[in-house]
Amino acid sequence: MDNEILHGLLNATQRAAIASYDWIGRGDSKAADAAAVKAMREAMNAMDFDGRIVIGEGERDEAPMLYIGEKLGKGGNPVDIAVDPLEGTDITARGDYGSLSVLAVASRGMLLEAPDTYMEKIVAGPSVGKNVSLSMSVEENVKAAAHALQKPVSDLRVTVLDRERHKELIASLRKTGCRVILIRDGDVHGAIGTCMGTSDLLIGTGGAPEGVLAASAIKSMGGYMEGRLVFRNDDEIKRARKHGTSEAIINGKIMPMDEMIRDNRSVFIASGVTEGTFLKGVKKHGSAAEVHSVIIRGGSTMFVKNSLRDAI
Ligand code: FBP
Repeated sequence: MDNEILHGLLNATQRAAIASYDWIGRGDSKAADAAAVKAMREAMNAMDFDGRIVIGEGERDEAPMLYIGEKLGKGGNPVDIAVDPLEGTDITARGDYGSLSVLAVASRGMLLEAPDTYMEKIVAGPSVGKNVSLSMSVEENVKAAAHALQKPVSDLRVTVLDRERHKELIASLRKTGCRVILIRDGDVHGAIGTCMGTSDLLIGTGGAPEGVLAASAIKSMGGYMEGRLVFRNDDEIKRARKHGTSEAIINGKIMPMDEMIRDNRSVFIASGVTEGTFLKGVKKHGSAAEVHSVIIRGGSTMFVKNSLRDAI
């Protein structure tokens, strides 16, 4: 991937993070999201590239900015982009831990154009890898992960979104004796944690767009992930068909991460908004904003700290 494009996209997540900063702890998740979307879009539109949003803020008629199919930039190399300008809108509104501005970029056609629905996910770090799968039971996955990590099940940490729909999953996990780390939001942050040592597995259902974004990071870090779409209603299925999602995927095919990220050259970029486990949140020092970011690609994870003056 062209370095100039990567710099431009890093700038875009940084600008979105800084724009979100003003809304931390103010109880208004919509305003926080809107500020992030606007800042990210403006930054991308100033770039010399031919960007196309394949995962964004929704359908064109519903999302005025960063909608699926929107073209961005002043022209140049063609790339596909998956964005979540503010991953963790409620986290930001609550002033809680772990909200990020994230994107993944790849050559045209290399990212799964995941419809705006849910995805059942299992994510593991490199030492566990393909030993786990959505085709296995919760108990089998826990045992396999503990075995691969050579630790007792009682020390295994499994991250799960704290949701009513996960009641059975959480009960099954607790029965195995493992530790269940419940998060209120932010399963991209949670997924990446499996490759950064903060947990061993992430299991459960969250956003499908967030699934593809996480898959880009996990694949580049040598971890493993599988996803399976879970539709909430017929409208979502209709939309998925409209966007060309295959019938097999609509019918619940398990997708290993290589089917979500189709080559080895995708790049994942995230900037911290609130404080997180692997990225610090935005801080303001006088007229400058300090932003912490990570660029994850092809086996390399690079942390970057920048001080931006003209973004305040
Ligand atoms: P938003 O920032 O879009 O609100 O997403 C936060 C999030 O927690 C994601 O990390 C997760 O994939 C999704 O919401 C889960 O959806 P739901 O809140 O409907 O369970």
